[in-house]
Formats: sequence, structure tokens, C-alpha cells
Amino acid sequence: MKTIALLTSGGDAPGMNAAIRAVVRRAIDHGLVVHGTRRGYEGLIKGDFTRLDARDVGGILHGGGTILGSARSNEFKTEEGRKKAIAQLEALGADALVVIGGNGSQTGSLSLSKMGFPVIGIASTIDNDLFGSEPSIGADTALNITIESLDRLRTTGASHHRAHIVETMGRDFGYLGLMAGIAGGAEVISVPEAEVGAQEIAERLRDASTRGKTHSIVVVAEGCKETANAIAKHFADHEAEIGFLIRVTILGHVVRGGAPTAFDRLLATRLGVAAVDALQHGEKGRLVGMLGSQVRTTSLDEVASTRKTLDLELIRLAQVLAR
Ligand code: F6P
Repeated sequence: MKTIALLTSGGDAPGMNAAIRAVVRRAIDHGLVVHGTRRGYEGLIKGDFTRLDARDVGGILHGGGTILGSARSNEFKTEEGRKKAIAQLEALGADALVVIGGNGSQTGSLSLSKMGFPVIGIASTIDNDLFGSEPSIGADTALNITIESLDRLRTTGASHHRAHIVETMGRDFGYLGLMAGIAGGAEVISVPEAEVGAQEIAERLRDASTRGKTHSIVVVAEGCKETANAIAKHFADHEAEIGFLIRVTILGHVVRGGAPTAFDRLLATRLGVAAVDALQHGEKGRLVGMLGSQVRTTSLDEVASTRKTLDLELIRLAQVLAR
């Protein structure tokens, strides 16, 4: 193996740059040439490559986003698109591809792998929904920003005797909502895996108000059928009965931006190094992730066909603690 290509794909995640830096510098350490691909699979199809040397990845460790850019490519979902991508990799002289991304991106890695091109994935998504890595790059930062937001809403909420209904990111996986809800002391946590209806939320808020609480946080994860806005609509004109004035905050992309935490920098660095080492050891068609405290690889087949689950016992725990 002499040359590798590298891309970031799907939703960007804080720590992607640290992973890029680690891949490039470890590859150079092994005597390899690295080409970055701009804008994920979209750029791969177009052959939009840029040679990356050690200096090109200097000063990016602490930066959010991805210096390579990212995209969600519809063309890559077609066999035609993937054939174009492989042709571009072959024209570049790449012997393998490293894909830094989440579920959709690693499904793409699996398709390329099945078509015979050697690929190694690196687990990176703020949603933390990727099987094969207990924490994925970006999830810790997103969780910390979510918690900080809840803390901020709590002080303004307490000043105005309000309940804040907060929609957290996470697509259809409740990880960010559940963990932030627990760490942020939410009164109610509604996640796709265990939704709480508007009626029950109203009752729990009324209860909280009766118990003398001056504010309440209700976390509603993005993937819930009943969104934060829909729940708030149910409460319109009933605020007096509920005991709190209601406000809605959609955290959205704010939690995906900005500098990665120390945890994400370290995780990304370890996974980036391990991805290059795995290729050097002849591994392909695998995802590099963190399981327990160990860096491990899991077959992309298993990653794509296995759903990560949430520990719903934690929801009951959160309810017990919201006294
Ligand atoms: O997968 C990361 C994520 O931020 C999800 O939490 C969210 O549902 C989605 O991406 C948003 O996608 P986009 O950035 O394309 O709007």
C-alpha cells in the first residue's frame, strides 16, 4: 500500500479535523501518500482530491467542522455513482479509502467494499447511533453543548416561572436527549424509544409546579413523533392550569458546531491512528471504533445491519430523580 484517500461524510462532527490530522500524520509515519477528498462522496465522484502533507493538517486539531467539507450525496446512493467514485480512486492510484462519518456514510463504505475497493471507516457522528463504537467522534461535544444550553435555560426559566420544552438533536436515536436530560436534570425526557405524550407531560409539569418548583425542563428528542412545537401547541391557553409559562427552544445545529471537547480530540486521534494501522495490517471493510476503553474494529456488514440501543432503565432513573 502506497497511497490512501480520505474523506469526511454526512453531518459534520466536532473532532473530524482531529481525525483527519491523525490519519494524515500516521500515514506519513508509515511512508504513505494521503489525498483528502473535498465534500465527501460528492467530491469523490468528481475526483476532487487534494494532497495532504503534515503541514496541511497543522492548527486544525482544536477546530470544529471539517477542513475537507462534507455532503450528503444522492448520486453516491446509485450504483452508477459508486462506479464513478471507484474509477476516480483508481485514477488517483489510491490503494484504500478512509471514511470518517456516521451511519449513512458507513453504509456507503460497505457498498464500496462490496464492490471490491478496500475501505476503513472511522465512527463519527454526534448522534452516537453507530454500532461498533460506544462513543462516536462528536457525540461528547454535542452532549456538552446540549447540557450547557439546558443549564442556561434553567436560570432564565427560574426567573420567569417557565417550563422550557427543548428539542435536542440526534435524528431518530434518543442518546443526546436521554443523556442531556439526565445530566441537565430535566423534569420529563421524551425520546423516540420511549415517547411521553403531551397529556402526561402536562400532568408532570402540573405536579412539579404543585411541589413548588420554580422552573422545569422538558427534553424532547428530535426523532419523536410529537415534536417540541406540537407539544407546546397542546399547552396553548392551558398555561395557568399547568402552572408554568411555556417556551420552546430547538437546539438544532448549534450543538454540532464549534470546538471539540478534549474527549473528542483524544477519541478522534486514537481512531485516526488506528484506521491507518488497520489498513497497514491488511484490514478492510471494517469500522474503527471505541468499545469499552479499547480501540476495536467491527465488520461494516455488522455495523450496517445492527441497531444500537438505549438503556431505557436510565429514563426510569431520571424520573425518580426529578422530585
Ligand atoms: O446526523 C447528525 C445530524 O445532526 C442529526 O442529528 C440531524 O437529524 C441531522 O444531522 C441534520 O441534518 P442536516 O445537517 O443535513 O440538516
